[in-house]
Amino acid sequence: MAPDRRAEARDPFRIRPPFVKCCQTSTGYGDFFSPEQARREARRYQRKGLGAASRWVVDVVRERGIEGKSVLEPGGGIGAIELELLKAGAAHSTVVELSPGYEEVAAQLAREAGVTGRMERHVGDFAADGTEPADVVVLHHVVCCYPDYEVLLGAAAEKAQHMLVFTYPPRNVVSRALLGIVNLWLRIRGTEFRTFAHPPQKMVDVVRRAGFEPYARRRGGIWRGIAFARSSQPSGRA
Ligand SMILES: C[S@@+](CC[C@H](N)C(=O)[O-])C[C@H]1O[C@@H](n2cnc3c(N)ncnc32)[C@H](O)[C@@H]1O
Repeated sequence: MAPDRRAEARDPFRIRPPFVKCCQTSTGYGDFFSPEQARREARRYQRKGLGAASRWVVDVVRERGIEGKSVLEPGGGIGAIELELLKAGAAHSTVVELSPGYEEVAAQLAREAGVTGRMERHVGDFAADGTEPADVVVLHHVVCCYPDYEVLLGAAAEKAQHMLVFTYPPRNVVSRALLGIVNLWLRIRGTEFRTFAHPPQKMVDVVRRAGFEPYARRRGGIWRGIAFARSSQPSGRA
């Protein structure tokens, strides 16, 4: 079904029907990242602000200058990082989210922050559907929720004009055991969604091959992070 561009222009938070069907019935993302989950996350954000790892993401992006820049966040959830970057001076932000469960809460938070006109959201698989390029691309808590890190990070690097930041869980005996338990619980629940501890160095290699070099790392904690700046165009690009 062709997207209705006029309806999208009237309401950028509109959920496009084909993806709703796909995510709720096929992949399990809509079951797991549900409206209830979104409301819980929004309450936590309103009470306590960003968590430590999310704050790190915002800080490393701001460190390089966010004024007037565009931000793209595949898997942006309720959009808390977008809100903080828009408040810090970003010109525009786009979230592409596989689960439709966040849309209502995200729209409400954007209205409360007064940034609706600068924020756009789409429901879909960023790795398969893509979107417009942006100055900064952020993937926070997302690579662990998608089976193919090469495709996801490759697509993110292709869209990132200047910066790319992603966070990920470490890959060690403890994290793999924990994610194994989570996946068993998901299987018992009958949800198709699974979690992944992808190999960190191989993820870094994907982004480096696309012409980026790391400029900051978050090494401790449950969530590791790495921020890249573009150093060259990938081979094959003009
Ligand atoms: C653990 S949640 C994190 C949400 C948000 N980034 C945060 O930190 O609160 C992971 C999110 O990534 C989304 N996601 C995973 N793969 C995706 C993809 N290929 N395209 C769009 N969204 C994706 C999931 O639907 C889910 O909402």
